[in-house]
Amino acid sequence: MTEKHIKLGLFGFGCVGQGLYDILNHSQGLKADIEKICVKDHAKKRKIDAKYFTYDKEDILNRKDLDVIVELIDNSQDAYEIVSRALNNGVSVVTANKKMLAENFEALYQLQEKNNVALIYEGSAGGSIPIIRNLEEYYDNELLSSIRGLLNGSCNYILTRMELENMDYGKALGMAQECGFAESDPWLDVAGYDTMYKLILLTVHSFGIILKPEQVLTLGIQNISFDDITYAKEKGLRIKLIATAHKVGDKFRVYALPHFVNKESDLYNVLYENNGVEVEGAYSCKQTFVGKGAGSHPTGSAVLSDISALTYHYKYGYKKLKKLRQQHKGNFDSGKLLDVDFDIKVYIRFADKNDLKGIEIVAVEEEFKSAKTNYIVATVKFNSLFDLKGKQDSKLFVCVV
Ligand SMILES: NC(=O)c1ccc[n+]([C@@H]2O[C@H](COP(=O)([O-])OP(=O)(O)OC[C@H]3O[C@@H](n4cnc5c(N)ncnc54)[C@H](OP(=O)(O)O)[C@@H]3O)[C@@H](O)[C@H]2O)c1
Repeated sequence: MTEKHIKLGLFGFGCVGQGLYDILNHSQGLKADIEKICVKDHAKKRKIDAKYFTYDKEDILNRKDLDVIVELIDNSQDAYEIVSRALNNGVSVVTANKKMLAENFEALYQLQEKNNVALIYEGSAGGSIPIIRNLEEYYDNELLSSIRGLLNGSCNYILTRMELENMDYGKALGMAQECGFAESDPWLDVAGYDTMYKLILLTVHSFGIILKPEQVLTLGIQNISFDDITYAKEKGLRIKLIATAHKVGDKFRVYALPHFVNKESDLYNVLYENNGVEVEGAYSCKQTFVGKGAGSHPTGSAVLSDISALTYHYKYGYKKLKKLRQQHKGNFDSGKLLDVDFDIKVYIRFADKNDLKGIEIVAVEEEFKSAKTNYIVATVKFNSLFDLKGKQDSKLFVCVV
């Protein structure tokens, strides 16, 4: 690939695609031209000349003169088709599509190996925080023990506005959407799925294991109320949706759940749409990265950095993954390294005690009942919380104590 002028084929011209376009126009260093942009909606007015646009993906995928395909669409199935076609054509790809990556990681890893081509995706997790390349390169030889992060700008924004400005949940979500922080389908944000997809990516680069979305326990903030915020405030705590992957013996505990966070935590003061990631290693101790977690320009800048990395032929080495697979000699199942059999202490707010059916409660530490709201603080079997994942009709709010 030439180091001077690179030719890009871009899929998607929404929040992130337009952010990338703006940043590229102001970039001093990187010389890159967007040759064509593929979008979907013929009726939509575009901010730039119609000559750039196509509605047919073949107009980009069939071109032989493009150096990089940049995939920034909001549909994971179409994105997977585009990305796998490009990789099979031997063209490097930059994407920010965490859902597509997490749902298809093993296949995408194999395609990179088979075609000896790069697929990089810094914008897909942690927004503008350069976390993936750091995990891949800087923490390469470090004995990482845990990674914890606030990975969803919309959820953090909603929680901050509810707590600091007494803003109603629905209004805060609407504002997150207006600001371009939310996914096209905001359920992916508030139910924790977006956080989970990003966690799956960070787990690959931290520990070398590829988990499937159905293996990772995820509960969101969609049922949070001011009662929960008040409970936290009275104890000097904040509620944060935290993704965590940590090593316990030879196994890993990986989940995305709301947590109460105290003032001593570096994540306590990560507010609004900011993201924060704490990395803990055996020798480096704890380090925290903080930065804008969502939005047009912060994500666009991460995408630009990836395009720039491709000009010096950057590729993820997946050394941790390869080492683990070598150790297990082709007989490797990441799921077997996942620990889901442990007890966890949680706060659960509920309207009707019947809603707690299915959760295996080991011991109740605190119980509160009133005409308005009820909650328990209890130790429960982690495994038994899986039934609540993605359950649209559940009204429970669960938060790790
Ligand atoms: N927004 C953020 O802060 C953020 C942060 C990190 C990562 N991401 C990720 O970045 C990606 C893009 O997000 P976004 O917020 O920019 O989405 P968006 O604003 O909804 O824009 C999506 C774009 O994709 C186009 N599109 C959808 N399906 C298509 C298809 N089959 N072929 C061609 N174009 C198609 C749409 O075309 P039309 O213009 O014709 O509708 C639109 O231009 C997503 O994977 C998202 O998860 C977003």
